[in-house]
Parts: sequence; structure tokens; C-alpha cells
Amino acid sequence: MNFLLSDKTVGFIGLGNMGGAILSALLKSETLRPDQVLIHNRTPGKAQKLAAKFDVTSVDTPEELVEKSDIIILATKPQDLLSLLESLKNTFSSEKVAISLAAGIQLSTLRKYIPEAQLVRVMPNTPIFICRAVIGFCLAKPNLVLEKLVTKLFTPLGHVVSTEEGEEFSALMVASSSGTGFIFELMKYWQDWIEENGIEPEVARKIVTETFLGTAQMAAESPEISFDQQTVRVASKKGVTAAGLYSMRELELEGILRMSFNKALMRDHELAKENS
Ligand SMILES: NC(=O)c1ccc[n+]([C@@H]2O[C@H](COP(=O)([O-])OP(=O)(O)OC[C@H]3O[C@@H](n4cnc5c(N)ncnc54)[C@H](OP(=O)(O)O)[C@@H]3O)[C@@H](O)[C@H]2O)c1
Repeated sequence: MNFLLSDKTVGFIGLGNMGGAILSALLKSETLRPDQVLIHNRTPGKAQKLAAKFDVTSVDTPEELVEKSDIIILATKPQDLLSLLESLKNTFSSEKVAISLAAGIQLSTLRKYIPEAQLVRVMPNTPIFICRAVIGFCLAKPNLVLEKLVTKLFTPLGHVVSTEEGEEFSALMVASSSGTGFIFELMKYWQDWIEENGIEPEVARKIVTETFLGTAQMAAESPEISFDQQTVRVASKKGVTAAGLYSMRELELEGILRMSFNKALMRDHELAKENS
């Protein structure tokens, strides 16, 4: 297989939130042409609607989709994936690339069902819906061509990071996917506090989102300045910000966050065991 996307047929099985968002972004960004795309969904109406909208081909069975595709994006819920793969066991040959989006299903489990296929596990976070995701992926075996191909395919949807499966992939998943949820939780605390100080909810929400966006944008535009240095720049000695930061450190906020990350990591390990 070469790393040219333009000569590959890409099939999507499962066209819910994630499958639909990826399909739409890849076509809108012209990463894929409509004639390169096949789709299939359990409830056919969903696929038919998308086929009409994007001028792609909807096929009746997952077997037909796998047979006719070079790259197959598996975007069903994790609980539906293994029975689907069981039925496709003999359809995946060694030149097919299977990309699983399923949370909590490891490559070793996928290998039991479709041992021939070239396996990729991808974990995007929810900002994929606005094409600002962090998208982690890992391969079953080192393969530079496949790594380039996967990076090319997902780059229109955000920042793509290749990792090893295991601790690296789990840490990336907790930091970016669960991380989105953790950040929303923090944003809620921020907003509640501003409102308690008399500001209208809508205004408070805007203050929070702009503060987070502006801070992230500044960090993104100055990668050479560490977060520590940025903090020092914001906080003048014995000033207002310094007083707040002192309290955060005294209350060991870092310890609380680390504990939360580790709990999420443990749950990821449990899920991987349940699905193995
Ligand atoms: N949503 C997220 O933010 C997010 C983030 C990271 C990873 N993921 C992963 O992305 C995957 C998809 O999640 P989602 O949120 O998009 O789920 P979803 O909205 O429920 O979509 C799943 C789709 O798969 C279809 N499906 C189920 N079994 C099928 C089968 N045997 N053959 C063909 N189609 C089948 C469903 O069809 P019906 O119409 O019949 O139900 C549905 O349209 C999951 O593995 C999840 O772990 C999601």
C-alpha cells in the first residue's frame, strides 16, 4: 500500500455522531472525493440521507463495504463493534486497513476478530465536531506508510498524534478526551463564581469562554514559552493573581487533578479488560 489517499476507497461503517462528523469534514475539506467513499449504517435511512447530501455511495451490507474499500473506518459504539467484526471475520484480508474509533477496545482484541487486517486505533476528542480535535492513534505494528496515511486522513479534523498503545495511548486519551470533560467542569466552577459576584449568566459564560480561549490561543502562539513562564508573566509579586495561585498550591490543586487523571486511567484499564 502506498500513502496516496487519492487512489484509496474509504468505507465508513456506523454513521452516528462520530462517523457522520468525520465523513462530513473529510468531504468538505476535499481530503476525499465523493467517488472514493462508501458508507453503511445499521439503520439504512441515516446512510441514505448522507449519501444524498454528499453524493457518496451507500451500500446495503458491511461485507460489501469491506470488500470494496481499502480503508474501513469502524464508527459503531464499542458494544456493537465486536459482533459486527465477528460477522466480518473472513472479509478483512491483509491489504485492508481497519480503523477503529471504539473507546476501550484494544488492538489485541481487534486482532482476535480480524487478524488479517492492518489495524489502527484512533481516539479523537469531542472538539472533532468543530475540526479542533486532538486525535491520538496507534498501530498494531510499526508501519511508516500507514502512519502517514492515517495522519493525512485525520489532519483536517485537528491535531494528530501518533503514540504507542498502552500507557502512552491511555494517557493521551485521558488528557484529551476525558480532558475535554474536565475542562468543561472547571469552566462551570468559573462561571458559578462569577455569577455569585453579581454578573448575569450570559455575560459570565462569555467571560469564561473568552478567558479559556484567549489563554489557550496565547499558549498555542508561543510554544517556546513554558506554562510556568507564562504564569510568572501574568502574576506580579504579591499581587492579586499571585494570591490566588498561592492558595491553589497550598490547597494542592495539582494533587486533586492528578488523582482525577489516575482514576480515569484506572477506569480505562478496567474497560479494556471487560472488552478483551
Ligand atoms: N461521540 C464522541 O464524542 C466520541 C469520542 C471519541 C470516540 N468515540 C467513539 O466513536 C464511536 C461512535 O460513537 P458515536 O458517538 O458516533 O455513536 P453513535 O452516534 O451511536 O453512532 C453509532 C452508529 O453506528 C451504527 N451501527 C451500530 N451497529 C452497527 C452495525 N452492526 N452495522 C452498521 N452500523 C452500525 C448505529 O446505527 P443505528 O442508526 O442503527 O443506531 C449508529 O448510527 C464509538 O466507538 C465511540 O467510542 C466517540
